[in-house]
Amino acid sequence: MKILAIESSCDETAAAVVEDGRKLLCGKVASQIDIHALYGGVVPEIASRAHTEAISGVVSEALAGADLSLEDIDLIAVTYAPGLIGALLTGVSFAKGLAYSSGKPLIPVHHIRGHVAANYLVHPDLEPPFIALVVSGGHTSLMRANSYTDYELIGCARDDAAGEAFDKCARVLGLPYPGGAAMDRLASAGDKTKYRFNAGSIDGSDYDFTFSGLKTAVINLVHGETQRGRVIDDEFRADVAASFTASLVGAVTSRLELLLTREGAQNIVLAGGVAANSHLRLALKNSAEKFGAKLYLPPLSLCGDNAAMIGAQAYYEYLSGAKAGLDLNAYATKTV
Ligand code: KG4
Ligand code: ZN
Repeated sequence: MKILAIESSCDETAAAVVEDGRKLLCGKVASQIDIHALYGGVVPEIASRAHTEAISGVVSEALAGADLSLEDIDLIAVTYAPGLIGALLTGVSFAKGLAYSSGKPLIPVHHIRGHVAANYLVHPDLEPPFIALVVSGGHTSLMRANSYTDYELIGCARDDAAGEAFDKCARVLGLPYPGGAAMDRLASAGDKTKYRFNAGSIDGSDYDFTFSGLKTAVINLVHGETQRGRVIDDEFRADVAASFTASLVGAVTSRLELLLTREGAQNIVLAGGVAANSHLRLALKNSAEKFGAKLYLPPLSLCGDNAAMIGAQAYYEYLSGAKAGLDLNAYATKTV
């Protein structure tokens, strides 16, 4: 079954052709990063307009790259939630038009489930049930996948997502948006014991995350040092990045280890843009080893937003009977 998938929930316009949820035939991503970098973050209205300009070309490129035409496609899939509402609506409207004009079924896909499904494209043995940890620019969620389409939320970010904290700390250190990857490289060169940051926890909620205090602590440190006349050089950046990353990664691994202590070893799936972080990947490998759990990591190419992951999840949504009509709407927030 060949699926044409569309993703436009944030600042990447993406299209892909995926076969049977497991094989990527072609994936294309048009990134808007250069546009949003001018403003230090994503500007929603600009994102919607940029999606509108790019979407038709990206879809054509994905079909051409797979050496297929629309007639060869069995299903049209689209991210319908969560994300920036105007950005989502661009993809949803385009997919609806395509499904209507071609007479093909339209499959709605939840973005977070999609991130997890990126792993199906590279791990043929991976099947639910498993524990899913999605760490991205907009989301930090610890979930239980009981089946391909039955997710239970165990814990999530109560304020800023991990990627948001990475990007804002990068910005105060003078790095261009999105600064997550640059923070990753800097952290490798820094001293993680230099600054004592504390990612903190939520009273009465063992598995939820809070990263806004950590982000504020970094911003206050940098502002304080600047006011004292300190020049923000690479050594300072590296030490801050290393200390920040150690705190954030510690918060993620401690939640996961608590779960494994209480519930025993099980399969763990990491996903999302921040899943590309080398320090997080290493720490989770160590945690999994310690508890005898099996860890599945997405390849770096499928960590950030893409449509291949939406096509992978769409196959299982279709098998479970999910099908949208032309009244499909987009939702800025929606539980997994
Ligand atoms: O999944 P994604 O593309 O978008 C959302 O669904 O939110 O994630 C983007 C986020 C950005 O915050 C970016 O800075 C972060 O992923 N990111 C990283 C790394 N690569 C991308 N964060 C830390 N380390 C990285 N290597
Ligand atoms: Zn995402």
